[in-house]
Amino acid sequence: MQITSVVNQKGGVGKTSLSVGAAAALAERGKRVLLIDLDPQGHASTEMLGLPEVPSHLPSMAKALTKMWKGPVEELVVPHTRSNIGRGGAFDVIPTSPGMFDLIRRLDQFRVPGWQLARVIQFANYDHVIIDCPPALDVLTNNAIAASNGILVPVQPDRTSIRALRLLHDQIQYVEQMVNRPPITYFGIVPGLYRRPISHYAMAALNELHTFNIPVLNHLPLGVVVNEAAARGIPVTTYAPETVQAESFRQIAATLEQYRENQTGGPIVPEEEFVFENFITEVSKARTANDNGARKKLYDFMPKRPRDGV
Ligand SMILES: Nc1ncnc2c1ncn2[C@@H]1O[C@H](COP(=O)(O)OP(=O)(O)OP(=O)(O)O)[C@@H](O)[C@H]1O
Ligand SMILES: [Mg+2]
Repeated sequence: MQITSVVNQKGGVGKTSLSVGAAAALAERGKRVLLIDLDPQGHASTEMLGLPEVPSHLPSMAKALTKMWKGPVEELVVPHTRSNIGRGGAFDVIPTSPGMFDLIRRLDQFRVPGWQLARVIQFANYDHVIIDCPPALDVLTNNAIAASNGILVPVQPDRTSIRALRLLHDQIQYVEQMVNRPPITYFGIVPGLYRRPISHYAMAALNELHTFNIPVLNHLPLGVVVNEAAARGIPVTTYAPETVQAESFRQIAATLEQYRENQTGGPIVPEEEFVFENFITEVSKARTANDNGARKKLYDFMPKRPRDGV
């Protein structure tokens, strides 16, 4: 299983479009794909794929990350049934849920915030996992970086993006050291959201992107099909399969698949540290959960004294 995070702390640069597009194009190739909507804004699930938020009483990624729920990851996924899926493929999504915003504060309280997401998905059974990250270098993005084999970075060709890329690079090094994992692979930069024909200004920024020593993958220029597909809750490859954008998503999917075939192993998720206080809390929670009303039933067996005057 190859895990790819789509990251850039800059907002509105095309992370969600790229996550959904690449995931759908992999499924179209007949791959088993899991898309994780890790952004509390929930745009991947709600805006682009027309999936509802997980109702608060059901298991969710937010509950799994904070261990309020500990079931198998399969119980968190919903299939996206309106996408073109190749033979043997699957397109499953872990949608956003109401607890995601609050989660950032709660995850920060963990002793070592970093490996929670990797632990939740480590036994998942997919060819590819694609993680749509929030526009922030926060604990959720750190979790995604810790768990991933590699990253895709969508960028708009302008000068602020160059600085953003440097900041991202520093943050990645910081996370690698914090969780003690091998260096992540930069699967590639995806330039996008520019008008065609490309301006001299954008061209200059693009040339600078090439100096980063990171592969520059297929471009995703502006195209109304991206918005139209989102409005219908289906991926671009299904809605407008003949467009430049659909073809780019397919090429990017092919690149990800190539990396998977040559995979040399990703991060090794460490065993969880044993903390006695946590153990006691969990045992007491399990006892209450497994009680199943037994205490109440016992009470029913007890002889009842009639109340005075009855
Ligand atoms: N190639 C494109 N052509 C036209 N519109 C696009 C394209 N890519 C993205 N968009 C639109 O631009 C907006 C921002 O894109 P997207 O949501 O993918 O960015 P993001 O980086 O995920 O944003 P955020 O940082 O808020 O999560 C969306 O409305 C999306 O539909
Ligand atoms: Mg987004």
